[in-house]
This record gives sequence, structure tokens and C-alpha cells, in this order.
Amino acid sequence: MLSKELGRWLKRIRGGNKPVGWQERTQLFPADLIREFRFFQFNLGNVTYFVRHNSGMDVRMVDTPHFAFAKASRDPDSGAMRAAKSSYLEYLKASWPASGLDTGLEHRESKCQFFLDHITAIETAQQVGNPVLLTRIPGKPGLYVLDGNHRCAIAAALGLSVPAKVLDFTTAFDHFLRVDEFYGTGSKEMPYQSAYLNRQIVRQGRRDDIYERLDALPAGFLQGKTVVDVGCNIGMNAIGARKCGATKVLGLEVSKRMANYATRFAVFDGCYPSVSFLPFVANVDQLPAGERYDVAFMLSIHNHLEHPGNLAEIVRRNVVEAVVFEGHPKTRLGDYQGFLDAVQFSRIEKITDMATSVFDRTPSRPVWILYK
Ligand SMILES: C[S@@+](CC[C@H](N)C(=O)[O-])C[C@H]1O[C@@H](n2cnc3c(N)ncnc32)[C@H](O)[C@@H]1O
Repeated sequence: MLSKELGRWLKRIRGGNKPVGWQERTQLFPADLIREFRFFQFNLGNVTYFVRHNSGMDVRMVDTPHFAFAKASRDPDSGAMRAAKSSYLEYLKASWPASGLDTGLEHRESKCQFFLDHITAIETAQQVGNPVLLTRIPGKPGLYVLDGNHRCAIAAALGLSVPAKVLDFTTAFDHFLRVDEFYGTGSKEMPYQSAYLNRQIVRQGRRDDIYERLDALPAGFLQGKTVVDVGCNIGMNAIGARKCGATKVLGLEVSKRMANYATRFAVFDGCYPSVSFLPFVANVDQLPAGERYDVAFMLSIHNHLEHPGNLAEIVRRNVVEAVVFEGHPKTRLGDYQGFLDAVQFSRIEKITDMATSVFDRTPSRPVWILYK
């Protein structure tokens, strides 16, 4: 006799809803290939788990706490099971706050039971149900699990095949990395920043001049420097700064979802944890007083803040050498006089004018270096 929960699992496995990408062709992957699938769902929280427990950030299915738990569950009273459960609980603890899900230990314990029921249901049905969703990441080998980490871990542990659909990266980006928070900048169905991997655009955004802007800085300007990027969007300037020689970069962004995406891109671009991100409300929050960065990026952020005076406070307390400051379209230095007066920079150097956006290439966004 099946419990209610197991009955529900089996119904889902045998019936199934149509997930994103259902129209793609389904392929069957055997257990030994599933073990090599890569983890995709990095977020602000669970990266800390992987940094602590895995030697790198290229995490194979067999190296996930999901797989260890599914494998050890075959022997529920074993020491291996106790260790696997404690790792899985630790993973949930790290992962959930980033998505606002964590409601405490009891909730995490119930998730473990949910997982065990799922394993039993798959074992009973000898199939995992709906196809899992995979993608390839430009420039990287392997297949990344967008949706279905638990099903893949269980199938790999039980030696079952998995039906899977492989989405191209643009489709994957639109469904799994889609940023629909724009803070008054207008969406036009595009992210603000183009998404880059290894300096190449993999998803077009309304700004496709990230490296052009970084390349306009004096040669070697970022070499060996620490950088804080205020209003970092999906993290492309922060990642770009690292590629231009910065040793450590912190991106600050009001949107937790964007900070999550930025984190994922830093992992995929091989920069995490040298490049990391934090949710931060730039007109309210302050960095700790003792935290110092050689350079700050304050790019097209000033007019988004109700209290831009806080930017000056960040510069005074936390920035050692200079601010790379991009104005909003059609603005002049005098439009930021309050900010300039509040810091009293020693020298100001205009370096370029960037285009408004991909829709209007007029060079209307002035960029200055403001030296302390
Ligand atoms: C016009 S975009 C500029 C993005 C990036 N600095 C660039 O130039 O490529 C403004 C960014 O600032 C962020 N933002 C808006 N208000 C903010 C706030 N109060 N604190 C932190 N970030 C904020 C937005 O979410 C968005 O990512």
C-alpha cells in the first residue's frame, strides 16, 4: 500500500506536466552519462557550499550532495546516510536563503523526507517521469542540468536512464536566467547588459559595449586592483574587471535575482570567488567601514538612486584611489555637482562617451575617472 505522498509522486512521474522546452526532442541518457552532467543552479548562497566542499566550481552530478544522498539512501541506517543527509541539509541551508525559501530546520528536514519519497517513487516506477532539461554553455564541455538535479541524482544512483531535452543556451537564458526586473530602465524584452562568457556575447542586451568601456580605461588601470561595482546589474563589468587584471571584485546590486545571475555567470566564466556579488541598496546600505577598494565603478547608477548622496559616503569610506563614473545619457559633469562636492576629488579625467544603447548609437554617456 503506497502512502499518499508516494501516490502523488507516482502520479507526477507517470502523468506529468509539460515543462519549459517540452517541444524539444527527448533523448534518453544512460546512468553513466548522467553522472557527468554539470550543476547549473548556482546562486548567491549555494556557491559558498560548493567552495567549501568541492575542489572547483565545475560540479559534476556525482559530486553533488543530491547524488550522495540518493546513493546513501539505499542503506538508510548507515553512517554514509547520516553524513549524506547532513551534507544535503547544509546545502539546503546555504542555498535557500538566496531564493527566500528557508523557513528553518523543520522545513529542511521535511525536504529530506520529500526527497526520500521521490527516490522510492522513482525506484517503484523504474522511471523518472518528465524529461529533465539540459543546456550546453558556450565554450564549455558537458551538459548542464537546468531543471531536474534531483531526478538526475536519483537516476544516477539507481542506475536508471533519464529522458532529457537539450535547450540551446539562448532558450535556456530566457527561461532560467531571464531578468525581468529593470528598475525604470525599460525592458524591450532584453537584459540591460549583454551577457558575456569569456568576452564573447552569448545573449544580446541593450548595452553591448561592456568591454569597449573597460578598454577605454588607461592601459593597466585595473591591473592588480580591488574593485567595487555599485549597481552591477548581471555582473558583466565586475567579471570584465577581473579579466582586465583586477584581483578581487565585489558587485553590489539592489536586485537579489540579478545578483544570483551574476554569481552564476562568475562561476561559468571561471571567476568565482575572486568576483562575487551581494544584494545591496545603494541609497541606504553602507559597506563595513574597514573595507577598502582601490577603484569603484559607478556606472549609469547615480540617477536611479533616491539619495545619491550615499554614493559619496561609499567613496569617502571605502574607496582608496578612483571612481570610474558613467553619466546618464545627455548629461554633463555639472549635473553631478552634489556628488562631486561631497567627495572633493583631486582630479577629473574624461575618458570617453559611450553609446546610449544598441538602439541608439549616439555617444551620449560620458565616462570620467574621478581621482581621490
Ligand atoms: C542602468 S543600470 C546600469 C548597470 C551597470 N552599472 C552598467 O552600467 O552596466 C542600473 C543598475 O543599477 C541597479 N540599481 C538601481 N537602483 C539601485 C539601488 N538602489 N542599489 C543598487 N543597485 C541599484 C539596477 O538594478 C541596475 O542593475
